[in-house]
Amino acid sequence: MQIPTSGVQTLGSILCVVGARPNFMKMAPIMAALGDLRPLPALSLVHTGQHYDAAMNHQYFEALGIPQPDINLGVGSGSHAIQTAEVMRRFEPVLDAKPPSAVLVVGDVNSTLACALVAAKKGVPVIHVEAGLRSFDRAMPEEINRILTDQISDLLFITEVSGRANLLREGIAESRIHFVGNVMIDTLRRNLERAVPLSQILKDAGREDFLGGDAGYAVLTLHRPSNVDDPAILRTLLETVLKISRRLPVIFPMHPRTRTMIERSGLEEVLDVPELLLLPPMGYLEMLGLMKDARAMLTDSGGIQEETTALGVPCITLRNNTERPITVEQGTNTIAGQDPERILAAFEDILHSGGKAGRVPEFWDGQASTRIAEAIRGWLENGSRS
Ligand code: UD1
Repeated sequence: MQIPTSGVQTLGSILCVVGARPNFMKMAPIMAALGDLRPLPALSLVHTGQHYDAAMNHQYFEALGIPQPDINLGVGSGSHAIQTAEVMRRFEPVLDAKPPSAVLVVGDVNSTLACALVAAKKGVPVIHVEAGLRSFDRAMPEEINRILTDQISDLLFITEVSGRANLLREGIAESRIHFVGNVMIDTLRRNLERAVPLSQILKDAGREDFLGGDAGYAVLTLHRPSNVDDPAILRTLLETVLKISRRLPVIFPMHPRTRTMIERSGLEEVLDVPELLLLPPMGYLEMLGLMKDARAMLTDSGGIQEETTALGVPCITLRNNTERPITVEQGTNTIAGQDPERILAAFEDILHSGGKAGRVPEFWDGQASTRIAEAIRGWLENGSRS
């Protein structure tokens, strides 16, 4: 961690927060870019501990060179209320001990909202990276987190143009909104050459035999409560994936929530087919290796919709909406929901025509974190209040 020595003129102090897997690849380039500023802001990192398994956690810190957190709040899993409340309870003394010039949060997980709320109530300015995304589906816990975090943020960095209209509609002052692009794509571009090859992933899994021919493969990720918590929906989705796997082998790295639900619903036997490869959660470089050469991606993740657009890989989103509309308008994404016919039709289109070619959206150029750091510098120099 780069803490300026005493006597050196500093820019102020920024306390960065991460909690769950999708936060890590966003925070890595932001902390690197802030660390390049001169004068240097004092930086510290708090991990709430929302995600704690090595596969969901340590692997990312190591692969992405994220500094070790100064503090881990060790919150772990729980209901939304318990998890959010526990983060708040444990984060408050951290702010009391050493109030920073600003708290920087990313994304839309429970830790994002919890820490933003504690900071705002203490009069500590909040910086939100990946602001303004809206699925307009309040049944999604992340949608609640996004709306509330944005309302109490002082500086809002948006990844795509839709974010500006969403925020203005919700009464956010235009002067607080900065269109900077996508920090996840900064991370992707920086690490593409380090991606772990598929052959290595298959070797590590003891399944070098998995891909017989050269027809390629599809990758599946699934973890949204709306897809995995209801056994009937989960079964329908998995049966659709099995149909797909008969046309193109499918690799399925499994989120712990999904594994638990599959075991609880007695669906393991259904998945025991040679064309489907079940893997544990992958590290960042492994996942990048799987995605970049896939013929098709099936997912309910938000970040993967963006990463596949940046990679030019066709993506079928197993949700009825997306908070990232630019991936559909300009990128490779097709929204197929949970309906088997729509999913299979989108898949057939990919098999026959290669799917949507797409183009890379504005400012997804690897420089988003530099723009963020520059904007933060200007904001701190001007007294950190917009
Ligand atoms: C969280 C985020 C979601 C994000 C996802 C990425 C919220 C509301 N949701 O969902 O936006 O897309 O992370 O992974 O913040 N578990 C483990 N080990 C871990 C973490 C979780 O086994 O390290 C299991 C536990 O059974 C836990 C369950 O996964 O109860 C859910 O974890 P939780 O952090 O509540 O939400 P995610 O589903 O991971």
